[in-house]
Amino acid sequence: MSKLATPEGTGRYAARFAGKSSPAHFRAWPLPETDDAPFHRLSSIGMGSYTGPSTDEGDLQYAESVGEAVRSGINLIDAAINYRNMRSERALGKGIRALITAREAARDELFVMTKGGYLPFDGAVPADPSDYLRETYLATGILRPEEIVAGCHAIAPRFLANQLERSLHNLGLDGVDVYFLHNVEQQLDEVPREEFDRRVAAAFHYLEEQVRAGRIGVYGAATWNGFRVPPERKEHLSLERLWEIATEVGGEEHHFRALQLPYNIGMPEALTEPTQKIQGQRVSLLDAAYALGMMVVASVPLLQTQILAHLPGNFAEDLSDLPTPALRAIQFVRSTPGILAPLVGMRQVQHVKENAALAAVDPLDAQAFAALFNGRG
Ligand SMILES: NC(=O)c1ccc[n+]([C@@H]2O[C@H](COP(=O)([O-])OP(=O)(O)OC[C@H]3O[C@@H](n4cnc5c(N)ncnc54)[C@H](OP(=O)(O)O)[C@@H]3O)[C@@H](O)[C@H]2O)c1
Repeated sequence: MSKLATPEGTGRYAARFAGKSSPAHFRAWPLPETDDAPFHRLSSIGMGSYTGPSTDEGDLQYAESVGEAVRSGINLIDAAINYRNMRSERALGKGIRALITAREAARDELFVMTKGGYLPFDGAVPADPSDYLRETYLATGILRPEEIVAGCHAIAPRFLANQLERSLHNLGLDGVDVYFLHNVEQQLDEVPREEFDRRVAAAFHYLEEQVRAGRIGVYGAATWNGFRVPPERKEHLSLERLWEIATEVGGEEHHFRALQLPYNIGMPEALTEPTQKIQGQRVSLLDAAYALGMMVVASVPLLQTQILAHLPGNFAEDLSDLPTPALRAIQFVRSTPGILAPLVGMRQVQHVKENAALAAVDPLDAQAFAALFNGRG
């Protein structure tokens, strides 16, 4: 059995939805879509797993929701080891393995992403969190004190090796298609730029090794502020510099290929702010990522539901074919040029059912998207 998604597998998955989903629902990645290089077919809506209580009931809901998502045309699944104290990885893994056992999906059809960086708890926040972290990561030699930033974050290779191992165990899978460094800019809180670059290089070196071992498809950076703030800010991330480090470490064919950042109508900086520089030109993150051929997936597309009551007035009119604010907010993100897919947090199966209905709807074309965006109040 394949350890990872494959172009053949994701193509087979997409083909099962022919006639049921919009022809534009599944996107080719990597681009360009040519006959020479194989590409995946990935759904233009992904499933996230950040929010919700760390309870058995929450686990059951996520396991059920991922099943419903995959049966409904969503083959892009996002987790992180620290989400719900490792319970999200475990619940998604359970749901994914149930689909595979029931032959409703195959591993090579599903594109599974996870993240490491935050020191995670195991199932629940322990009575004494510092004690737990000391015993689990310092006493065992997995981390040295100076490698931990803000008491909660590290990207040292020894630590990443431990975290990847745990993530694969939690998911019950032999590999993940994207491994993200989680909020990597957190390191800049305490570490000067030069040391940050050294740490990133060491992390990328480890991740390249894991790509060669077949346990990771590609790797990337999942960020919060890093790519949305200007270069003057301490937590700013330069995509060009990260790309350069990846090239130094892994050569021209390196595997630093994916980015995740917040994007919704209330947080549009990835599209609107020229926070990046490519060959001396100030450009937006989406333009920079496009120039480098990188995948961009959007987190918090609903601003954790806060956007639903505050959509611009023109959305209801321009997207009147979509019956709910959630669908309009997702359609906006899904139609943004350069975004592969919004990752929508969906613990409840009824939210999967509602949101997955969009698979049958064409994303907006560039002109309609521009009219929607420019028409906002
Ligand atoms: N720094 C990072 O890397 C980072 C940060 C944040 C998020 N993320 C990723 O992005 C994903 C999405 O972010 P998020 O979950 O924080 O926020 P979100 O997707 O903007 O919102 C999720 C919330 O929306 C609700 N929802 C989903 N569909 C709905 C619908 N049709 N109607 C009404 N409510 C609906 C969900 O409810 P239920 O869950 O109850 O169904 C959940 O409460 C995360 O799961 C995670 O994978 C990454």
